[in-house]
Amino acid sequence: MTTAFQAVQITDRVYWVGAIDWELRSFHGYRTGRGTSYNAYLIVGDEVTLVDTVKAPYFDEMIDRIRSVVDPSTIQHVISTHAELDHAGALAPLLELAKPAQLVASVMGKKALQQHFHWDRDVTVARHGERLDLGDTTLRFFEARMLHWPDSMFALLEPEGVLFPNDAFGMHLASAERFADQLDPGICEVEAAKYFANILLPFAPQLTKLLDELGQLDLNLKIIAPDHGPIWRNQPEQIIERYAHWAKREPTAKAVVVFDTMWKSTDLMARAIADGLTQAGLHVEVMPLNASHRSDVATELLDAGALLVGSPTLNNQMYPTMAGLMTYLKGLRPKNLVGAAFGSYGWGGQAVGQLDEALDDMGVERVEKGLRVRYVPDSDALVSCRALGQRVAAKLKEKLS
Ligand code: FEO
Repeated sequence: MTTAFQAVQITDRVYWVGAIDWELRSFHGYRTGRGTSYNAYLIVGDEVTLVDTVKAPYFDEMIDRIRSVVDPSTIQHVISTHAELDHAGALAPLLELAKPAQLVASVMGKKALQQHFHWDRDVTVARHGERLDLGDTTLRFFEARMLHWPDSMFALLEPEGVLFPNDAFGMHLASAERFADQLDPGICEVEAAKYFANILLPFAPQLTKLLDELGQLDLNLKIIAPDHGPIWRNQPEQIIERYAHWAKREPTAKAVVVFDTMWKSTDLMARAIADGLTQAGLHVEVMPLNASHRSDVATELLDAGALLVGSPTLNNQMYPTMAGLMTYLKGLRPKNLVGAAFGSYGWGGQAVGQLDEALDDMGVERVEKGLRVRYVPDSDALVSCRALGQRVAAKLKEKLS
């Protein structure tokens, strides 16, 4: 049927029927500089099945794309792999319109859907490893708890080898192209890493366990069709390998220096520290918070071995921007970092001690007590900053050797 929005055929049976969000720039605290997509998938076999929906404002667009292939009333099964509203936001109107025979979710998904929509609806529970017979094909389900919500679930279309892993293996990237191989591989790598660092990093142990289990099942994966960003149809094992690598959180000879500044004194300290780190042989990313977003700091930390944080003292506290950053990073549970704190102050100077505590809370191996400089650093103070950078670099190199 000719509709304004058309489905994109992925395989003989599978169609993309999602929506592209070109304008999204923030996703619960994560800067989505390239927008995103909400991917829903239609399986057209003996029994028509929809895997996930889209964010609520894109319901009409999704229905249009479905109509370009089938009448929505022919949908017999709806699979909800995740209750978060970027995927389940259009679920209620879809169920109202299509009236499918069955809504399927994980054990935790059934609860999460009820807690979102407060409905009295029958939800079929798909347990780990169970299959759903669709006539001429089969869907198999794998619980993916905490990847990244308790209800998260993967669905595999057998025997085509199309995996619908919900948020996993996705990225926030709006594009007219639907496949990763149609896009700049450098952009895909950066955006996939950013997504991993900001969404999945806290759950790296669960991810490793699930990947190990799926790897032993010989699933013959041909396509990975995530719920955000492009679809992986060429060598899908490559993104799985990237995930397995990122999940190890292996440090490299790289330092991230992140700070905020009041009158450029902490900025000067950061510059001298960075010079010391560089001279000691590390790759250094200097990230002033007035020019760097916390989600980009998290991305840079994915392969870093050192984190140095700086703040002036404002009303006996660290800068609010730094407090926000430290809270955000702590939640992402980075591992295997050495680090140090620094900052300029006028009288109380509490910020550096607070940063020391925040680094300790994050499990960062601090090389020493944070370095404080009164008001404007003189050349001796800057030499001390440089030396701090060199000591942190030495500690990291010792760890890496
Ligand atoms: Fe893309 Fe967890 O929602």
